[in-house]
Amino acid sequence: MMLHIPEVLSADQVRHIRVELDRADWVDGRATVGDQGARVKRNRQLPEHSPLSFKLGEIILEALKKNPLFFAAALPKKTMPPLFNSYEGGEHYGLHVDDSVRHLPNAAGSIRTDLSTTLFLSGPEEYDGGELVVVDTYGTHEVKLPAGDLILYPSTSLHRVEPVTRGARVCAFFWSQSMIRDDWKRSMLFELDQNISSLRAKIGDSDEVLGLTGHYHNLLRQWAEV
Ligand code: NI
Repeated sequence: MMLHIPEVLSADQVRHIRVELDRADWVDGRATVGDQGARVKRNRQLPEHSPLSFKLGEIILEALKKNPLFFAAALPKKTMPPLFNSYEGGEHYGLHVDDSVRHLPNAAGSIRTDLSTTLFLSGPEEYDGGELVVVDTYGTHEVKLPAGDLILYPSTSLHRVEPVTRGARVCAFFWSQSMIRDDWKRSMLFELDQNISSLRAKIGDSDEVLGLTGHYHNLLRQWAEV
């Protein structure tokens, strides 16, 4: 399942992060990928584990904690500190799949990458090209979102970033390990959760709504790895 979550960051938060990033020293994006990725990746990144990366990443992680849609869709067990990248002057990232296991900073163990997220920090009017293209069994999806919005997609998907031919495309990106490893089960839980929420908004906590809520939690109990 791919999900667009709007307005994860406010306009002020986006502006603040962009001002800090404009002053930052960027490095070759090939520093953070394996062999296959390095052959097709052409962009720049904020150095992983740098104090600025952690500081700005914390703003995003705090915003995610307050976002019920992200929680319902990702059911995250762990989310990696966000990384930041920039593409301009024809930079691009060819078709690749993200590494399946990544090490957390400060020897805090590893995570399995179930879900990839791209959070846009440039508005679509600021650059040409730069679409995130995700290929899954339902076809090919092109994504270019307003600044502050994110796209969540299964890390199992092949994806690429088209060349940026004008301006700069600045984004944050990160991975989550979900309590629900299986994308299909996670999608079903999300659908159930969203329907229960809208039913509750319409008719309140009827016996049926409580029954369905119990059913949701019992499925989560059956399937969750915590
Ligand atoms: Ni990727």
